Amino acid sequence: MATPLLILTILSLVAAGIDAGHNVTISLLDSAIARGADGTPPAYAYSPGFGDGVDNWHVFLENVDDCLNRCRYPLGSSAKLISTKNGSVPFEGMLNNNSTFNPDFYNWHMFKIFYCDGSSFMSNVEDVDTKHNLTYRGARIYDAMMEELLPIGMGNAKNALLSGTSAGGLATILHCDKFQSLFHKTTRVKFVSDTGFFVHGQDYLD
Ligand SMILES: *[C@@H]1O[C@H](CO)[C@@H](O)[C@H](O)[C@H]1NC(C)=O
Ligand SMILES: *[C@@H]1O[C@H](CO)[C@@H](O)[C@H](O)[C@H]1NC(C)=O
Ligand SMILES: *[C@@H]1O[C@H](CO)[C@@H](O)[C@H](O)[C@H]1NC(C)=O
Ligand SMILES: *[C@@H]1O[C@H](CO)[C@@H](O)[C@H](O)[C@H]1NC(C)=O
Ligand SMILES: *[C@@H]1O[C@H](CO)[C@@H](O)[C@H](O)[C@H]1NC(C)=O
Repeated sequence: MATPLLILTILSLVAAGIDAGHNVTISLLDSAIARGADGTPPAYAYSPGFGDGVDNWHVFLENVDDCLNRCRYPLGSSAKLISTKNGSVPFEGMLNNNSTFNPDFYNWHMFKIFYCDGSSFMSNVEDVDTKHNLTYRGARIYDAMMEELLPIGMGNAKNALLSGTSAGGLATILHCDKFQSLFHKTTRVKFVSDTGFFVHGQDYLD
């Protein structure tokens, strides 16, 4: 059963073209208080909306919890993220700007906030962890990003979507009320938490 299905999937992908996405430049938010886990400024990538999508905003959260290990790598360090990715990342899936692959959101403003926080954007600790030389200021990163987005148009959004995958999906659950409170009553605000709920239990990999 699996083989014909796989072939069918591959054929339909070939017929439709490959969802390769468009490359979007990674930028740093050089605000003084917001810092990623390794002390580098937090990173984002922004693809502006167009056509009848100009009043619609999609904020996507990428995030991990294993701060200590991952901050040594691109997932937790803006500096390493930019050097490893050569300065840009592909926007795919719900971030794709081609209506064939992303019919509902392709022309929305799309704003991806990267890893580098380590706590689902909840931590707000002034002191640097001296043992590991890490900074836990995710809540400040989230706030600084929102402050950046509201004046450039998100404050008057007709539709606003907060989404995230994995730990970013957890961050979406944790931030949804706070996100909704940024908007006028007339703005339609929705959330997509993709694999964002973690059950307390033994890890199946253990
Ligand atoms: C979207 O992707 C399809 C399939 O690859 C392609 O044929 C089409 O030209 C693309 N549309 C735009 C506007 O780039
Ligand atoms: C995006 O960048 C990658 C790596 O540099 C490159 O291989 C790819 O062709 C680029 N995609 C587009 C759509 O330009
Ligand atoms: C701690 O990290 C900062 C970057 O935030 C770096 O400048 C400094 O050299 C590091 N200190 C140690 C002891 O590794
Ligand atoms: C970045 O550029 C280097 C050197 O040109 C190349 O080897 C590497 O594959 C590139 N990485 C990506 C993610 O495109
Ligand atoms: C998608 O974004 C890329 C890079 O910014 C751009 O070259 C391309 O024209 C865009 N596609 C559409 C359909 O707007």
